[in-house]
Amino acid sequence: PSETGRVLSIQSHTVQVLAVVPFISSLPCSPYFPKSSFNYEEICSEMFTRQVMVPSSVGYLATSFLSSHCYLDIFAGYIGSVSFLNTILQVVNKLRLVNPSLVYVCDPVMGDEGKLYVPPELVSVYREKVVPVASMLTPNQFEAEQLTGFRITSEEDGLKACDVLHAAGPSKVVITSLNINGDLLLIGSHQKIKGEPPEQFKIVVPKIPAYFTGTGDLMTALLLGWSNKYPDDLGKASEIAVSSLQALLQRTVADYKKVGFDPKSSSLEIRLIQSQDDIRSPQVKFKVDRY
Ligand code: ATP
Ligand code: MG
Ligand code: NA
Ligand code: MG
Repeated sequence: PSETGRVLSIQSHTVQVLAVVPFISSLPCSPYFPKSSFNYEEICSEMFTRQVMVPSSVGYLATSFLSSHCYLDIFAGYIGSVSFLNTILQVVNKLRLVNPSLVYVCDPVMGDEGKLYVPPELVSVYREKVVPVASMLTPNQFEAEQLTGFRITSEEDGLKACDVLHAAGPSKVVITSLNINGDLLLIGSHQKIKGEPPEQFKIVVPKIPAYFTGTGDLMTALLLGWSNKYPDDLGKASEIAVSSLQALLQRTVADYKKVGFDPKSSSLEIRLIQSQDDIRSPQVKFKVDRY
């Protein structure tokens, strides 16, 4: 359907459409990841029991499915312009006319570590128009600050940010990482009934002294996939997602070291293909602490 998105399978009996986020479809084209070694369908079908699609496929899928099918999830990550973001919104709103319970998972990719890397005018569009229609939101610390308007410097601030974001729209919020006193915290929050206190939890992750490319995309993809399998247990979905991701990061660092590369010297390409078993069925080593 597009240069970057790829529809993986269309099975009319279950109306299953699987597509991959651009980073997954582009990585296997790089020399590190020979295309043939990655069985998308096998891996994705384990996790994605419903439909997952990407911005670049949105137009195509919207036209082909709008009239006939109702179980569609949308997952959108990095979006570099206001016009593209508005298009996503139009598609979400149109699809909701046919399927009011359409799941829209929004990774509000705007920046990291105090810096914006999208045009600043996107921030208010996310705040005012996107957050209100998102089902699940997966900001990092900086993005959560941009969306709530306050600084997040403690665990309590993180929990408060989740409350504020629930009030603005999404029933599921995962702040994928908070840097607090040298620890890396993931904070999850599921407001099962509008207006009621959310179920909240954290997962503590030791910070690996390296930078990686693609961790945020993979994290949101895994959260979406496992949330389809465990729609009422965001904690469990997060435990599995974090465990897969951490196993993959450990392998990434180990593989770079093996070839004599200093993992601190530049941003590391994650070892996605080599970690497919950890993605398919991870050992769940990371557990939630519930509040
Ligand atoms: P990106 O910068 O790729 O868009 P993000 O900022 O949206 O990512 P993060 O929250 O930084 O997303 O990273 C996603 C997940 O990756 C986090 O849950 C975190 O646990 C893990 N992660 C990223 N970097 C590290 C690291 N150096 N050590 C351990 N875990 C990491
Ligand atoms: Mg980050
Ligand atoms: Na994120
Ligand atoms: Mg991100």
